[in-house]
Amino acid sequence: MIQLHDLQFTPYISEEKIMNSIEELTVKINDDLKGEKPLFIGVLNGSFMFATEIIKRFDGDCEVSFIKMSSYEGTATTEEVKELIGLKEDIAGRTVVVLEDIVDTGNTIEVLIEKLQEKKCKEIKIATLFYKPEAYKKEIKIDYIGISIPNRFIVGFGLDYDGLGRNLTDVYQLKSDNNMTNLVLFGPPGAGKGTQAEVLKDKYNLKHISTGDVFRYNIKNATELGTLAKSYIDKGQLVPDEVTIKMLSEEVDKNSEAKGFIFDGFPRTEAQAQALKVLLESKKASVSAMVALEVDDEVLVQRLLERGKTSGRADDADENVIRNRIKVYYKETAILKEYYEKEDKYFGVDGFGEVPEITSRLSKVIDNL
Ligand code: IMP
Ligand code: MG
Repeated sequence: MIQLHDLQFTPYISEEKIMNSIEELTVKINDDLKGEKPLFIGVLNGSFMFATEIIKRFDGDCEVSFIKMSSYEGTATTEEVKELIGLKEDIAGRTVVVLEDIVDTGNTIEVLIEKLQEKKCKEIKIATLFYKPEAYKKEIKIDYIGISIPNRFIVGFGLDYDGLGRNLTDVYQLKSDNNMTNLVLFGPPGAGKGTQAEVLKDKYNLKHISTGDVFRYNIKNATELGTLAKSYIDKGQLVPDEVTIKMLSEEVDKNSEAKGFIFDGFPRTEAQAQALKVLLESKKASVSAMVALEVDDEVLVQRLLERGKTSGRADDADENVIRNRIKVYYKETAILKEYYEKEDKYFGVDGFGEVPEITSRLSKVIDNL
């Protein structure tokens, strides 16, 4: 994994694969342009590496020029396309091969081709190293395509994120929530949430973040946030969301290699759900799903009373206390259920049965995310 500015990128396409596709492209270009003396026009800055590799492999005579026409800011296309600059050659009557590093929406190439056509060249061919078919919205035919990729943001081999990454010879993709699974795990007391979290965390290489554990850790180690949290707890007050979120944020940062997180015990309110959303967005991620284990109340009561016989937990011994805890759970989570349902992210899973059976139901949901 590499870091450029604030974002992380993971290896995606090797230099070897890129070179192989360039070899194939040049065979076609050499074939098509036999006997011609084309003008290769590289579109700066991104195409410098690709242009070099193509031009090096051209068999006959050719000329080389570079132009500039940038339409990007950060990782989002800005629709607005700038002017064509740098073309000094008279291209009337000539065969031109435009060399692009990547064609995304096609905005850049469309304007570029329009400008070149005004100059009355004989023929314009377009070659691009990368192409995003899902993002492409134009009619113009791309004559030579190196590698088609899904709609992802990539860097390397000339392509940049905010100026960085152009020198990388392999291509990397933005580490986004596409390859992260962030679960908000819910379940009434006795639903087997802890057991399932343990299994899922190993199965999917996730980090289990139990808010209770995070609090206890920070308080025990008297971290700055832990001490702050304790000052509220000692006064019998609720710990403000900002403090909790900061602790969770540190926990997420500590585990940047994880494939995702299981949030357990948080969020409890809509405001917290919103705060979690903001936290994950700042890490270019999002909640993938709220997964709630659903178990019949009577089953829960029986399970907890059974557990109470051995656990020694006072709150597991009294049936009324148990029923009340279950009631509180449903009251609390109803709002969150609604919140995540609106985002199409709520998944109720039948929590009745053997542990592996329930895991396989949960896995079905996770695998389909
Ligand atoms: P289009 O106008 O949307 O086709 O975008 C073309 C330009 O956007 C390219 O020349 C790049 O400068 C930039 N671009 C598009 N996708 C990416 C990407 O995944 N990584 C880096 N730059 C990109
Ligand atoms: Mg470009």
